[in-house]
Amino acid sequence: MKILRLGVLASGRGSNLQAILDAIDAGQLAAEVVVVISDNGEARALERARLRGIPAIHINPARFPDKHTYEEAIVDTLKKHQVELVCLAGYMRLVGRVMLESFPNRIMNIHPSLLPAFPGLHAQQRALEYGVRYSGCTVHFVDEGMDTGPIILQAVVPVLAGDTPETLADRILEQEHRIYPEAIALYAAGRLELRGKRVYIKES
Ligand code: GRF
Repeated sequence: MKILRLGVLASGRGSNLQAILDAIDAGQLAAEVVVVISDNGEARALERARLRGIPAIHINPARFPDKHTYEEAIVDTLKKHQVELVCLAGYMRLVGRVMLESFPNRIMNIHPSLLPAFPGLHAQQRALEYGVRYSGCTVHFVDEGMDTGPIILQAVVPVLAGDTPETLADRILEQEHRIYPEAIALYAAGRLELRGKRVYIKES
């Protein structure tokens, strides 16, 4: 079976990266993480990659004159490693034109809300403040907007009476770790078909 070459971009903790690696180890995902890139040199995601001998590269945006040249450096690195699908996993920047044009419909993201509700930062806290009864997470293809791209998979979690942003985030995170590898596996199996704004999941 063909092995999909993944490039992961992460800015922090890297638990979603870990979930992807664990799914690969468990034989649930015919993929290989060939490079991990971070805009943050201290990201634990880089450490997780290094521990497994995966190239872990810090690309510091402050060293580039603008977003365009910064993203060119990212794209160069992804191409050098022959990445086929880019997975954003807690990558805290809006993806720009350079990356989108280099990987059209080949960038995925995971977001901790039921999009289109609560895009952007602090999604769990905002869901709680709004008083929704259910929240969850969404895996989507990335477009030029903030968490606006075509939706691939979602999972729902209840909001409970005593929730804090942290307890809700933990409950959502469990589902993130389940559906992100699942969405990537569907892509790897060629089962995702994008028509306009909608993603259709083909029978295997
Ligand atoms: C997750 O909640 C993800 O949905 C959001 O950022 C967080 C990243 O967590 N985009 P981690 O770095 O994968 O642990």
